[in-house]
Amino acid sequence: MGDLEKIIISKKSNLKPVWFMRQAGRYLPEFRKIRSENKDFIKLCLNSNLSSEITLQPLKRFNLDAAIIFSDILMIPYALGQSVEFKKNLGPTIEKFDYERFNSIDEKKFIEILDPVYKAIEITRKNLPQEKSLISFVGAPWTLLVYMLNLKDNIKKLNLDSFKKNIKNIDKIMFKLNKFICLHIEKQISAGANLIQIFDSWAGLIPKDYFNNLCIEPNLNLVKFCKEKKIITICFPKGINKNLLKFNGEVQPDCISLDYDVDPFWARENLTGVALQGGMHPKFLLMSEKDMLGEAKKYLDVFRDVPYIFNLGHGLVPETNPDKLKKLVEFVKEYK
Ligand code: CP3
Repeated sequence: MGDLEKIIISKKSNLKPVWFMRQAGRYLPEFRKIRSENKDFIKLCLNSNLSSEITLQPLKRFNLDAAIIFSDILMIPYALGQSVEFKKNLGPTIEKFDYERFNSIDEKKFIEILDPVYKAIEITRKNLPQEKSLISFVGAPWTLLVYMLNLKDNIKKLNLDSFKKNIKNIDKIMFKLNKFICLHIEKQISAGANLIQIFDSWAGLIPKDYFNNLCIEPNLNLVKFCKEKKIITICFPKGINKNLLKFNGEVQPDCISLDYDVDPFWARENLTGVALQGGMHPKFLLMSEKDMLGEAKKYLDVFRDVPYIFNLGHGLVPETNPDKLKKLVEFVKEYK
């Protein structure tokens, strides 16, 4: 068992494991090399050997406690019939949602399309030392919907009454998404992943009146499913700030990943009975070493006596210097 599982399960505070969101990515020259030879991002995610190699790249450089499988939350919409493209510096472009096509995909077809992801997990688990954890992940239904239905720019126009009318078949879409996200979780765990992080990166966009329906309920469904299967969960509902109190009370995941807007002192006092992770702003890695390590010390001091996994408040940015990251990892490892 890795240190991540140990501190999450036994709520020990003497270990301070460390890993980073987007630790496999564009700030690493060895990733950029493979990426430049593989222009189609989805195809790269579906190349089991390469995606396993990319997953392990950061662990060759840094003394990290976990690997996170190289994939994307948009693999689910892709397997549900929507084509996805990643254009340089533009973020993902996703084909217009087609309900009939979405509805026509069954479990067999879905698993067939995503099988290379499960193979990549198998290969990676075999090549990863026992004491290192392998993290898999999914997007939460709301965050997937933001991309699938292109909601980001239209969000302000929505209100509780219009939502169900505007988005035809929303209940059916949510139902199917939940089912297929659970399936993807289960298949990733069977392939050898040790825990699941649930990314609700756009939870902060949810209008107040929808918070229960679109954040609490869908995350609760996923966490309940995982608990039944004894799967460890880390939830990352980004941007909900003090609503984390309600989230923790009602969803009760094993661990909550904090974003950079959450006050760490507030989190320590209010988010109890749960392991905590992350929080430090990724921009500190672009500052001087003194500023970066000072901020890291702040988080380590605040969370000294609680179960805490060192990480950031969001993913590493492409401008991050790998040597700086190495210093940060060493600092966390030497912290007493
Ligand atoms: O190292 C890891 O964290 C594992 C791999 C991973 C990727 N995406 C690889 C990736 C993980 C965990 C994700 C999750 C993901 N993908 C999220 C949730 C986390 C978050 O950032 O909030 C979201 C919202 C996505 C959707 C997505 N994928 C976006 C918005 C983008 C483009 C913008 C960007 O930051 O690059 C991607 C592409 C993507 N996913 C890249 C990587 C390494 C960059 C692709 C490239 O090389 O061009």
